[in-house]
Amino acid sequence: MIPLAALVALFITTLARADEDIYIDGALNGGWQNWGWNTDINWAATDLKVGDSSISATSQAWSAISLKDPTTFGSYAGLKFDIACNPSQLQLYFQSTTDNSQSATIPISALSNAINPNSFTTVVVDFNALPPSGAPLGPGTWDRINWQALGDGATYHLDNIRLLTSIIVKPEFLSAEPIANNILAVTTQGTVDFQNLTVSLNNATISVTNITTFSPADTPSRTINYLKLASNLQPGLIKVKAGSLDVSYTLPTVQYASIVTAVSTPISPLIYGVNWPPSASYIQQLGVTISRWGGNAVTAYNPFGDFTNAANDWFFENRKADGGNADSWIAWIKAAGSQAMMTIPALDWVAKDATSYSYPKSIYPNQQRFDPYNADAGNGLYPNGSYIQPPPDPNRAYVPWNTTAAKKWLTGLTNKPDFVFIDNEIEIAHSTHQDIHPQPMSYDEELDRMVTYAKMAKEALPNAKVAAPSSCSWWFYWTSAVGYSDNAAHWNIDFLPWFLSQMKTASTTAGKRLLDYLDIHYYFQPDLSANDAAAKALRLRMTRSLWDPSYVDESWAGSNPQNHQPNPTAIWLIPRMKQLIDINYPGTKLSISEWSSTADGDITGGLVTVDVLGLFGRYGVDVATYWSNPDSKGPVGLAYWLYRGFGTYFGSKTAQVNFATSNAANTYGIYAATEGNKLSMVIVNKDTKPLGMDLSNVPHGNYFMRHFGGAAGVAKWQTTVSITNRQYIVVPAYTAVFLIQA
Ligand SMILES: *[C@@H]1O[C@H](CO)[C@@H](O)[C@H](O)[C@H]1NC(C)=O
Ligand SMILES: *[C@@H]1O[C@H](CO)[C@@H](O)[C@H](O)[C@H]1NC(C)=O
Ligand SMILES: *[C@@H]1O[C@H](CO)[C@@H](O)[C@H](O)[C@H]1NC(C)=O
Ligand SMILES: *[C@@H]1O[C@H](CO)[C@@H](O)[C@H](O)[C@H]1NC(C)=O
Ligand SMILES: *[C@@H]1O[C@H](CO)[C@@H](O)[C@H](O)[C@H]1NC(C)=O
Repeated sequence: MIPLAALVALFITTLARADEDIYIDGALNGGWQNWGWNTDINWAATDLKVGDSSISATSQAWSAISLKDPTTFGSYAGLKFDIACNPSQLQLYFQSTTDNSQSATIPISALSNAINPNSFTTVVVDFNALPPSGAPLGPGTWDRINWQALGDGATYHLDNIRLLTSIIVKPEFLSAEPIANNILAVTTQGTVDFQNLTVSLNNATISVTNITTFSPADTPSRTINYLKLASNLQPGLIKVKAGSLDVSYTLPTVQYASIVTAVSTPISPLIYGVNWPPSASYIQQLGVTISRWGGNAVTAYNPFGDFTNAANDWFFENRKADGGNADSWIAWIKAAGSQAMMTIPALDWVAKDATSYSYPKSIYPNQQRFDPYNADAGNGLYPNGSYIQPPPDPNRAYVPWNTTAAKKWLTGLTNKPDFVFIDNEIEIAHSTHQDIHPQPMSYDEELDRMVTYAKMAKEALPNAKVAAPSSCSWWFYWTSAVGYSDNAAHWNIDFLPWFLSQMKTASTTAGKRLLDYLDIHYYFQPDLSANDAAAKALRLRMTRSLWDPSYVDESWAGSNPQNHQPNPTAIWLIPRMKQLIDINYPGTKLSISEWSSTADGDITGGLVTVDVLGLFGRYGVDVATYWSNPDSKGPVGLAYWLYRGFGTYFGSKTAQVNFATSNAANTYGIYAATEGNKLSMVIVNKDTKPLGMDLSNVPHGNYFMRHFGGAAGVAKWQTTVSITNRQYIVVPAYTAVFLIQA
């Protein structure tokens, strides 16, 4: 018979699983393996260590240490490790080998402010609240932990990597910020006591008259508490004390703006799009109105087998198409309430199977790099970086493609796309798809392909809108890969204006409009890689390149313009494109099928997205899709949710916003719209201190409010706030607020 005490002990040891050591000194434990790639690793480094030794690693760009669990680790509470690195060079994410799913990426800088390359910092990742969003890792067959270098590569040390069975969350006030007219938004974790919370404004204590609590479904580890204050906010010093939280904010003098609903233009509902939404629920959560099947791999998409080849993006290897079958994709996208944009191949070859590749080592032994997962597939470059010559035989990995094949595919679709895009960034095919198009694309060749495929698309799908040429960037709006001799051969007319006028001529000849949308990709040009305070401020003000003729771009584009356009150092993107359209092919609409905030994981990227979506509406972009599908709980996803989430959305007609200060756009944006007699507004505070706005003509009364950002950096909302006389609407630092009349 087992004594009772022993039985109890037995229960405790079997029930309470121990922490699991993955790496302590010298080697991986318990069957863990490294599935990393392009990374030199010393598993027993002694230059920096806690204990006997540590892991020292150097990863090439986008390469990683990837620790693979023989089982799965999702039931653990979290992960603890010591790390020494330059935090801006590395990110962390979790992966499942079973279903290939992947967690949101965690910038290493979000784990701790103390992380540095010269000494170890111990960090804990709580699987119930992943930084920075606070969202849980969620259920899954998680079995890989990846420390991945960003584009500059990374040299780093790791030590004492351990899965934790429990993490004790200390009840705590995390942040308390004034917002709207008379609200204090308080973020908490665990159960805290509000009794001893005190608020004073300009030395006078303000009482709290009501507390409403909201627990965001996305981030249940953090709770938002809206404290209604007995008096309205006003300029001065507000102090909040609660538990160990002791914060104060200077509420600034009021900024004035007025809203004029009578001055109005329509906002296209199709500016709120993304590339490759991952699911129907994502479409609903973010309010995605249009979805694009696009990117480099779709150029080689073979619809008769659903094969593709990402070419230069991945060792010129064929694979099964990432989006599956195009017809099925269009079906589920449309069923989820989004329009569907289909990019159609317009080069002469598409992938022939899911396994072939263009540059086998067995044929070209002398190459710069080989796929870490397929040692025979090379990157098509000699070790010195120049292209393998002569170009490979396209038949090795591809089958011929032409308009006959494309027409057969499009006419046979059960589910019709709303938009047909003619290929993707075809002007740089010589570098993205060098194996099937080694020659630089000239003006004439590009036009010929666009006209030929547009005619075919209009025959195959008369109701689909045709968009082209999906130029990759500012540089290629104005010239071709051939270079300036090509401009010179076309009367020195820059490419896009030439293209528009030629499409007009071709449409006249064809007796019908062949181009419905001028499509471009727009990537902000400034170098923001430092991501320090100066880079963040630049990121937040560079949105002026979308509209402001007096904003000289803070990049090479502003100092060394290569185009022949008026005001060449200002990008002035949307009005410039509309003007080019009016001059060269009136009636064509404007589409931006790829753009990026430049920082999906950073709050400033989310605020840029809020600003850009507002500007797209104000300046009349017709269609826009983000590249690619931002994390729904990260800052960029939250920007979409702010405007459109779950069917509550920003209005469909602009209202004019007049600013009293001229340089407002560097630090904040205000967008207003109406629909069905209801005013909606988005205010984005791009500054690191609070904003106080007086918005005249804003009707008093109750508003539904949403917001994200601020000191706690999570999604929050509440059903109503009241905006009352004399207006002083506060928006905390680095925060975006959406208000709609209740
Ligand atoms: C609140 O403050 C009172 C008076 O200082 C103190 O007695 C009480 O313990 C405090 N309560 C909490 C929950 O901190
Ligand atoms: C608040 O109190 C401090 C210290 O007593 C004083 O210096 C300050 O002027 C007061 N501020 C206001 C706005 O009354
Ligand atoms: C607090 O505010 C909420 C939301 O406006 C309201 O539903 C609730 O009745 C209020 N509670 C009190 C005690 O006034
Ligand atoms: C690069 O290497 C290849 C193969 O060795 C050679 O043919 C080519 O001339 C080299 N190019 C340059 C620019 O050195
Ligand atoms: C496309 O290729 C097929 C097969 O070679 C050929 O029969 C067809 O005529 C071609 N279509 C065009 C438009 O060239």
